[in-house]
Amino acid sequence: MKIFAYGCRPYDELSCFEKYSSFFGLDIKCTKLSVSEDNIYLAEGSEYVSVLTNPITDTMLDSFKSIGVKMIGTRTVGFDHIDCKYAKSIGIKISNSSYSPDAVAEFTLMLSLMSLRNMKRIIQRSSINDFTLKGLRGCNLSERKIGVIGTGTIGKRFIELLKGFGCEIYAYDPSPEEIEGVIYLPLKDLFSTCDMFSLHAPLQSATRHIINRNSLDLMPDGSVIINTARGGLIDSSALIEALNEGKIAACGLDVIEDEFDLYYYNRKADVINNKPLSILRDMPNVIISPHIAFYTSKSVDDMVRNCIQAFINDEAGVENPFRIV
Ligand code: COI
Repeated sequence: MKIFAYGCRPYDELSCFEKYSSFFGLDIKCTKLSVSEDNIYLAEGSEYVSVLTNPITDTMLDSFKSIGVKMIGTRTVGFDHIDCKYAKSIGIKISNSSYSPDAVAEFTLMLSLMSLRNMKRIIQRSSINDFTLKGLRGCNLSERKIGVIGTGTIGKRFIELLKGFGCEIYAYDPSPEEIEGVIYLPLKDLFSTCDMFSLHAPLQSATRHIINRNSLDLMPDGSVIINTARGGLIDSSALIEALNEGKIAACGLDVIEDEFDLYYYNRKADVINNKPLSILRDMPNVIISPHIAFYTSKSVDDMVRNCIQAFINDEAGVENPFRIV
């Protein structure tokens, strides 16, 4: 069984690939190049291909099919960058990976506290020796009514962490579960009841722009939004309007619409054509981070290992919890 891995970061993922190729006795080849239409040929001779977040177009899927690739595994939890329906229609299997939800849940909590306590302004001012207090008064997390949108593994772990703070916790999910101390509400009611929102839903047609002009209008003035899931869940233009009006008091955004050609590249010498990013980044009450909530040593190891595990399960024809289509 031969595996080819694209986008393998030499400074952290490579050693994991080396470790697991010798642990499982597998033939794994890696390139640091992100997968693109121009480098599909590199995977020739491998039935299994591992990728990261770059969009996998239908043309790329066709090319992989033509060189005999059986399965493409993304080393991420989300798989919205792959057209799974098309992959299935041409007989290519798709799998994802998994890692402990702690990394993203803890980062979400950090962004929540930083947003409520004006941490961006505090850091900016202290760095130029401005130690004044005016404009820096924050809010206690314990006083907030938190609306968690999406109660999968990460949403649930974030809820567990929140419980230590004593805030009211509400949730929305199309498949609600029994979670102690959490009241599920229909989405509209969640928007009008809560004053702080954290997004943990997958990006699908039903969730794209779940935060839009209408939902923002339902929220109380001064609400806070944290997004560590997918940029496409928020209509950026509507969010910018709501921030300008003070409807939204602060945001923590680890993800942003159209981030694919930015994160994780060094684009410092380029003119960046992402207006929402420039506008949001200029706001003192918006914290932007480059889709990094997942990034801990444990997560990186798990992402590589579980991607390989998906291929091993497929080859052995056994139950495969990572199989998407
Ligand atoms: C995922 O695993 O789905 C993530 O969001 C992290 C990834 C983009 C590296």
